[in-house]
Amino acid sequence: MLKRPFKLGNILLPSNIFCAPLAGCSDLPFRRMTVKYRPGLVYCEMVKMDALIRHDPNTYRLLDYEASMHPIGAQLCGSKPELAGPCAKIIEDLGFDVLDLNCGCPVDKVTKDGSGSGMLKTLDLIGEILSNMVAAVKIPVTVKIRAGWDSSHIVGPEITRIAEEAGASAICIHGRTRAQGYKGPANWDFIRDCKLASRHIPVIGNGDIMDPLSAEKIFKHTGCDAVLLARGTMGKPWLIEDIYRHFDGKAPLIRSGLDYRDVLLEHLDHIVSYQNERRALLDLRRIGCWFLRGAKGMRHLRESLNRSKAAAEVREMICNYPWHEADFSEEVREEETCETESC
Ligand SMILES: Cc1cc2nc3c(=O)[nH]c(=O)nc-3n(C[C@H](O)[C@H](O)[C@H](O)COP(=O)(O)O)c2cc1C
Repeated sequence: MLKRPFKLGNILLPSNIFCAPLAGCSDLPFRRMTVKYRPGLVYCEMVKMDALIRHDPNTYRLLDYEASMHPIGAQLCGSKPELAGPCAKIIEDLGFDVLDLNCGCPVDKVTKDGSGSGMLKTLDLIGEILSNMVAAVKIPVTVKIRAGWDSSHIVGPEITRIAEEAGASAICIHGRTRAQGYKGPANWDFIRDCKLASRHIPVIGNGDIMDPLSAEKIFKHTGCDAVLLARGTMGKPWLIEDIYRHFDGKAPLIRSGLDYRDVLLEHLDHIVSYQNERRALLDLRRIGCWFLRGAKGMRHLRESLNRSKAAAEVREMICNYPWHEADFSEEVREEETCETESC
């Protein structure tokens, strides 16, 4: 059985299909949409240790969650060992079930102080920070890495051992290097090599899981114990359900234009109830692009959304669109990109 309950430290997660931290995306409205399909674990977007420790309100807002979202994880990003323990304690006191350390974010403004994927160059520091986090809390601590800084410096297996020794409960590997950014396919061999290096720490595979078949393939290729879905859930919150059905041997659900409309409207309503008007409008355009990209007959609606001046106008445009004429069957998602700053 590829899908199974997952023991993470002292807790039992209902499944081994998880939803990734996505900075700027996996906010409360986004998570309301994905948790409906019952992932084993859902992560909030990363928060910076420096900001959390000074109780920055915007940072706390990124950690908003509701009771229905358990089991839920938070992710810390930072390179100061002295902040790791106190920040971990704040996360535990906020009621999170799991805590992750970000060693993968590739953006310059994060790596310049040695955080995110900058940590892939200072492996001892990863061990020290993880140990401090583990010592400070009872909840399981995980670490999420890229395979290495670049293809000449692959450090996944070494970090797997370090994480194990530091007492981490699992390690997640995104099968790309920092130098790669998001270009080219993820190399799942990197994940397999970490699984081979692991003595007992469970390995979570991540990268390019876009549909049920790729979920099956990554399990089989790498031998990983769990998987983490990321971009595949943008505009497709039901990906989790699709994967569960596939693993249970059930026929896939065919989603019509009207299904897409209903889920998009639901997501929009969550955004409008959570954000102020200015932010809601920006989010609505972005989320609209995720849902509409690649579908035939949607270009006009996408362009209109981008010109819209108010959240109510966006809703009206979507409601009035002839969704039954849209064709989502031949998606060409890769060929169209939405403006989403990635971490
Ligand atoms: C918009 C965006 C934001 C992201 N934010 C985070 C983050 O906050 N923390 C993190 O560890 N990874 C972050 N990632 C990386 C994803 O969690 C994941 O590792 C990556 O997208 C590879 O998986 P995929 O190919 O299935 O998308 C982000 C990726 C994207 C595209």
